[in-house]
Amino acid sequence: MQHISSTLDVPDTSYVPRHVAIIMDGNGRWATQRHLPRVAGHTRGLDAVRAVVEASAARGVQFLTLFAFSSENWRRPADEVSFLMRLFMMALRREVVKMHANNIRLRVVGDLARFSPRIQQLIRDAEARTAGNTGLTVTIAANYGGRWDLLQAMRKMLARSPMLDPASIDESVLAPHLAMAYAPEPDLFIRTGGEQRISNFLLWQLAYSELYFTDVFWPDFDAAELDKAFASYRQRERRFGRTSAQLVAPGLSGTA
Ligand code: IPE
Ligand code: IPE
Ligand code: MG
Repeated sequence: MQHISSTLDVPDTSYVPRHVAIIMDGNGRWATQRHLPRVAGHTRGLDAVRAVVEASAARGVQFLTLFAFSSENWRRPADEVSFLMRLFMMALRREVVKMHANNIRLRVVGDLARFSPRIQQLIRDAEARTAGNTGLTVTIAANYGGRWDLLQAMRKMLARSPMLDPASIDESVLAPHLAMAYAPEPDLFIRTGGEQRISNFLLWQLAYSELYFTDVFWPDFDAAELDKAFASYRQRERRFGRTSAQLVAPGLSGTA
Protein backbone atom coordinates (compact mmCIF):
# COMPACT_ATOMS: atom_id res chain seq x y z
CA MET A 1 0.00 0.00 0.00
CA GLN A 2 1.61 3.16 -1.16
CA HIS A 3 -0.41 5.45 1.11
CA ILE A 4 0.41 4.10 4.55
CA SER A 5 3.30 6.35 5.52
CA SER A 6 1.79 9.54 4.28
CA THR A 7 3.44 11.54 7.08
CA LEU A 8 6.87 10.74 5.62
CA ASP A 9 6.59 12.84 2.50
CA VAL A 10 5.70 16.49 2.89
CA PRO A 11 3.04 17.41 0.34
CA ASP A 12 3.37 20.81 -1.29
CA THR A 13 0.51 22.93 0.05
CA SER A 14 0.61 25.16 -2.99
CA TYR A 15 -1.42 22.45 -4.71
CA VAL A 16 -5.03 21.66 -4.11
CA PRO A 17 -5.28 19.16 -1.22
CA ARG A 18 -5.35 15.61 -2.52
CA HIS A 19 -7.75 14.40 0.18
CA VAL A 20 -10.33 16.64 1.89
CA ALA A 21 -12.37 15.28 4.82
CA ILE A 22 -15.38 17.22 6.06
CA ILE A 23 -17.59 17.12 9.15
CA MET A 24 -20.79 18.57 7.72
CA ASP A 25 -22.20 20.19 10.85
CA GLY A 26 -24.82 22.84 11.57
CA ASN A 27 -27.85 21.60 9.61
CA GLY A 28 -30.13 21.73 12.65
CA ARG A 29 -29.06 25.23 13.71
CA TRP A 30 -29.36 26.48 10.13
CA ALA A 31 -33.01 25.38 10.15
CA THR A 32 -33.79 26.57 13.68
CA GLN A 33 -32.49 30.04 12.81
CA ARG A 34 -35.11 30.13 10.05
CA HIS A 35 -37.88 28.78 12.28
CA LEU A 36 -37.91 25.58 10.24
CA PRO A 37 -37.88 22.01 11.57
CA ARG A 38 -34.33 20.63 12.00
CA VAL A 39 -34.83 18.14 9.20
CA ALA A 40 -35.26 20.99 6.69
CA GLY A 41 -31.59 21.68 7.39
CA HIS A 42 -30.68 18.12 6.43
CA THR A 43 -32.53 18.48 3.12
CA ARG A 44 -30.63 21.68 2.38
CA GLY A 45 -27.47 19.95 3.54
CA LEU A 46 -27.83 17.53 0.64
CA ASP A 47 -27.77 20.51 -1.77
CA ALA A 48 -24.49 21.59 -0.19
CA VAL A 49 -23.10 18.08 -0.67
CA ARG A 50 -23.88 18.32 -4.36
CA ALA A 51 -22.17 21.73 -4.64
CA VAL A 52 -19.05 20.62 -2.76
CA VAL A 53 -18.73 17.37 -4.71
CA GLU A 54 -18.91 19.32 -7.96
CA ALA A 55 -16.46 22.00 -6.82
CA SER A 56 -14.01 19.41 -5.48
CA ALA A 57 -14.02 17.52 -8.76
CA ALA A 58 -13.57 20.75 -10.72
CA ARG A 59 -10.58 21.76 -8.58
CA GLY A 60 -8.81 18.45 -8.92
CA VAL A 61 -9.31 17.01 -5.45
CA GLN A 62 -8.80 13.24 -5.64
CA PHE A 63 -10.57 12.12 -2.46
CA LEU A 64 -13.48 13.82 -0.72
CA THR A 65 -14.70 12.22 2.49
CA LEU A 66 -17.97 13.37 4.05
CA PHE A 67 -19.13 12.52 7.57
CA ALA A 68 -22.85 11.94 7.07
CA PHE A 69 -23.87 9.98 10.14
CA SER A 70 -21.76 9.11 13.16
CA SER A 71 -21.97 6.00 15.33
CA GLU A 72 -23.29 8.38 18.03
CA ASN A 73 -26.04 9.93 15.87
CA TRP A 74 -28.42 7.01 16.67
CA ARG A 75 -28.92 8.82 19.98
CA ARG A 76 -31.01 11.48 18.21
CA PRO A 77 -34.81 11.49 18.32
CA ALA A 78 -36.24 8.54 16.36
CA ASP A 79 -38.05 10.73 13.85
CA GLU A 80 -34.87 12.65 12.98
CA VAL A 81 -32.93 9.38 12.57
CA SER A 82 -35.59 7.91 10.29
CA PHE A 83 -35.68 11.12 8.25
CA LEU A 84 -31.91 10.91 7.80
CA MET A 85 -32.23 7.27 6.70
CA ARG A 86 -34.85 8.20 4.10
CA LEU A 87 -32.71 11.08 2.87
CA PHE A 88 -29.70 8.75 2.62
CA MET A 89 -31.76 6.28 0.63
CA MET A 90 -33.03 8.98 -1.71
CA ALA A 91 -29.50 10.29 -2.23
CA LEU A 92 -28.23 6.79 -3.00
CA ARG A 93 -30.93 6.44 -5.65
CA ARG A 94 -30.78 9.86 -7.29
CA GLU A 95 -27.33 11.31 -6.73
CA VAL A 96 -25.45 8.17 -7.68
CA VAL A 97 -26.77 8.38 -11.23
CA LYS A 98 -25.32 11.90 -11.53
CA MET A 99 -22.08 10.93 -9.84
CA HIS A 100 -21.64 8.01 -12.19
CA ALA A 101 -22.22 10.30 -15.19
CA ASN A 102 -19.45 12.54 -13.81
CA ASN A 103 -16.91 9.69 -13.49
CA ILE A 104 -17.10 9.82 -9.67
CA ARG A 105 -16.34 6.71 -7.63
CA LEU A 106 -18.52 6.32 -4.54
CA ARG A 107 -17.50 4.47 -1.39
CA VAL A 108 -19.35 4.16 1.91
CA VAL A 109 -17.44 3.42 5.12
CA GLY A 110 -18.81 2.59 8.55
CA ASP A 111 -20.56 -0.24 10.36
CA LEU A 112 -23.11 -0.86 7.64
CA ALA A 113 -24.71 -3.88 9.34
CA ARG A 114 -26.89 -1.54 11.39
CA PHE A 115 -28.61 -0.13 8.30
CA SER A 116 -31.74 -1.68 6.78
CA PRO A 117 -31.15 -4.41 4.17
CA ARG A 118 -32.54 -2.01 1.56
CA ILE A 119 -29.96 0.66 2.34
CA GLN A 120 -27.20 -1.94 2.44
CA GLN A 121 -28.24 -3.17 -1.00
CA LEU A 122 -28.33 0.40 -2.39
CA ILE A 123 -24.82 0.98 -1.03
CA ARG A 124 -23.50 -2.20 -2.63
CA ASP A 125 -25.14 -1.29 -5.94
CA ALA A 126 -23.81 2.28 -5.89
CA GLU A 127 -20.28 1.13 -5.09
CA ALA A 128 -20.34 -1.57 -7.75
CA ARG A 129 -21.78 0.74 -10.38
CA THR A 130 -19.14 3.45 -9.83
CA ALA A 131 -16.18 1.16 -9.00
CA GLY A 132 -14.50 1.62 -12.37
CA ASN A 133 -14.73 5.43 -12.39
CA THR A 134 -11.43 7.26 -12.42
CA GLY A 135 -12.36 10.78 -11.27
CA LEU A 136 -12.95 12.03 -7.73
CA THR A 137 -13.50 9.36 -5.07
CA VAL A 138 -16.33 10.43 -2.77
CA THR A 139 -16.48 8.53 0.51
CA ILE A 140 -19.55 8.79 2.69
CA ALA A 141 -18.88 7.94 6.33
CA ALA A 142 -22.14 6.46 7.61
CA ASN A 143 -22.55 4.90 11.04
CA TYR A 144 -18.84 5.59 11.15
CA GLY A 145 -16.73 6.15 14.24
CA GLY A 146 -12.95 6.45 14.42
CA ARG A 147 -12.84 4.09 17.39
CA TRP A 148 -15.02 1.55 15.58
CA ASP A 149 -12.62 1.75 12.64
CA LEU A 150 -9.55 1.08 14.79
CA LEU A 151 -11.28 -1.82 16.53
CA GLN A 152 -12.51 -3.45 13.33
CA ALA A 153 -9.03 -3.03 11.84
CA MET A 154 -7.47 -4.79 14.85
CA ARG A 155 -10.02 -7.60 14.63
CA LYS A 156 -9.32 -8.10 10.92
CA MET A 157 -5.58 -7.97 11.46
CA LEU A 158 -5.76 -10.66 14.16
CA ALA A 159 -8.26 -12.79 12.23
CA ARG A 160 -5.81 -12.88 9.36
CA SER A 161 -2.79 -13.76 11.50
CA PRO A 162 -3.90 -15.04 14.93
CA MET A 163 -0.31 -15.85 15.96
CA LEU A 164 0.92 -12.35 15.20
CA ASP A 165 3.96 -11.41 17.27
CA PRO A 166 2.99 -8.18 19.12
CA ALA A 167 6.48 -6.79 18.48
CA SER A 168 5.92 -7.07 14.74
CA ILE A 169 2.82 -4.85 14.75
CA ASP A 170 3.68 -1.51 13.24
CA GLU A 171 1.66 1.06 11.30
CA SER A 172 2.05 -0.84 8.06
CA VAL A 173 0.56 -3.98 9.61
CA LEU A 174 -2.55 -2.28 11.01
CA ALA A 175 -3.29 0.48 8.51
CA PRO A 176 -4.25 -1.76 5.55
CA HIS A 177 -7.23 -2.97 7.60
CA LEU A 178 -8.67 0.49 8.21
CA ALA A 179 -11.91 1.18 6.35
CA MET A 180 -10.26 3.83 4.15
CA ALA A 181 -7.04 2.00 3.35
CA TYR A 182 -7.64 2.83 -0.32
CA ALA A 183 -7.04 6.56 0.26
CA PRO A 184 -4.12 8.66 1.43
CA GLU A 185 -4.64 10.40 4.78
CA PRO A 186 -6.62 13.66 4.59
CA ASP A 187 -4.49 16.71 3.83
CA LEU A 188 -7.26 19.05 4.88
CA PHE A 189 -9.97 18.53 7.50
CA ILE A 190 -12.92 20.92 7.46
CA ARG A 191 -15.61 21.25 10.11
CA THR A 192 -18.51 23.60 9.51
CA GLY A 193 -21.00 24.79 12.12
CA GLY A 194 -18.60 26.40 14.60
CA GLU A 195 -17.73 23.46 16.87
CA GLN A 196 -14.05 22.68 17.15
CA ARG A 197 -13.87 18.96 17.75
CA ILE A 198 -13.27 15.71 15.87
CA SER A 199 -16.44 13.91 17.11
CA ASN A 200 -14.94 10.44 16.59
CA PHE A 201 -14.26 10.98 12.87
CA LEU A 202 -11.08 9.57 11.27
CA LEU A 203 -8.94 9.28 14.41
CA TRP A 204 -5.95 7.49 12.91
CA GLN A 205 -5.89 9.30 9.59
CA LEU A 206 -6.24 12.85 10.95
CA ALA A 207 -2.94 12.56 12.85
CA TYR A 208 -1.24 15.17 10.64
CA SER A 209 -4.10 16.75 8.69
CA GLU A 210 -4.41 20.51 8.54
CA LEU A 211 -7.51 21.54 10.49
CA TYR A 212 -9.93 24.20 9.29
CA PHE A 213 -12.96 25.30 11.30
CA THR A 214 -15.63 27.67 10.06
CA ASP A 215 -18.76 29.07 11.70
CA VAL A 216 -20.67 28.70 8.42
CA PHE A 217 -23.50 26.18 8.79
CA TRP A 218 -23.24 23.24 6.39
CA PRO A 219 -26.29 24.19 4.22
CA ASP A 220 -24.54 27.52 3.49
CA PHE A 221 -21.19 25.92 2.64
CA ASP A 222 -20.54 26.21 -1.11
CA ALA A 223 -17.74 26.43 -3.68
CA ALA A 224 -16.69 29.88 -2.43
CA GLU A 225 -16.43 28.59 1.15
CA LEU A 226 -14.43 25.61 -0.09
CA ASP A 227 -12.06 28.01 -1.80
CA LYS A 228 -11.60 29.89 1.49
CA ALA A 229 -10.61 26.64 3.15
CA PHE A 230 -8.16 25.90 0.32
CA ALA A 231 -6.71 29.41 0.64
CA SER A 232 -6.15 28.78 4.35
CA TYR A 233 -4.53 25.43 3.49
CA ARG A 234 -2.12 27.15 1.11
CA GLN A 235 -0.86 29.31 3.99
CA ARG A 236 0.10 26.28 6.06
CA GLU A 237 3.54 24.83 6.37
CA ARG A 238 3.39 21.08 6.83
CA ARG A 239 6.48 19.88 8.63
CA PHE A 240 5.63 16.42 9.99
CA GLY A 241 8.06 16.93 12.85
CA ARG A 242 10.85 18.58 10.91
CA THR A 243 12.04 22.17 11.17
CA SER A 244 11.22 24.91 8.68
CA ALA A 245 14.84 25.00 7.52
CA GLN A 246 14.75 21.33 6.58
CA LEU A 247 11.86 21.97 4.22
CA VAL A 248 13.90 24.56 2.35
CA ALA A 249 16.85 22.17 2.04
CA PRO A 250 15.22 18.73 1.94
CA GLY A 251 17.19 15.55 2.28
CA LEU A 252 19.77 16.99 4.70
CA SER A 253 18.65 14.86 7.62
CA GLY A 254 15.80 13.20 9.39
CA THR A 255 14.06 11.27 6.68
CA ALA A 256 12.76 8.61 9.06
C1 IPE B 1 -24.97 17.71 10.92
O1 IPE B 1 -25.83 18.73 11.34
C2 IPE B 1 -25.71 16.58 10.25
C3 IPE B 1 -25.70 15.32 10.98
C4 IPE B 1 -25.09 15.07 12.10
C5 IPE B 1 -26.45 14.24 10.38
P1 IPE B 1 -26.51 18.67 12.75
O2 IPE B 1 -27.81 17.96 12.63
O3 IPE B 1 -25.59 18.12 13.77
O4 IPE B 1 -26.77 20.22 13.03
P2 IPE B 1 -26.60 20.97 14.43
O5 IPE B 1 -25.20 20.73 14.89
O6 IPE B 1 -27.61 20.39 15.35
O7 IPE B 1 -26.85 22.39 14.09
C1 IPE C 1 -20.75 14.99 13.76
O1 IPE C 1 -21.75 15.93 13.96
C2 IPE C 1 -21.21 13.91 12.87
C3 IPE C 1 -21.66 14.33 11.54
C4 IPE C 1 -21.53 15.49 10.97
C5 IPE C 1 -22.27 13.30 10.78
P1 IPE C 1 -22.55 16.01 15.32
O2 IPE C 1 -23.33 17.27 15.28
O3 IPE C 1 -23.31 14.77 15.57
O4 IPE C 1 -21.36 16.10 16.40
P2 IPE C 1 -21.37 16.37 17.96
O5 IPE C 1 -21.98 15.16 18.59
O6 IPE C 1 -22.17 17.60 18.21
O7 IPE C 1 -19.94 16.54 18.32
MG1 MG D 1 -24.19 18.97 15.01
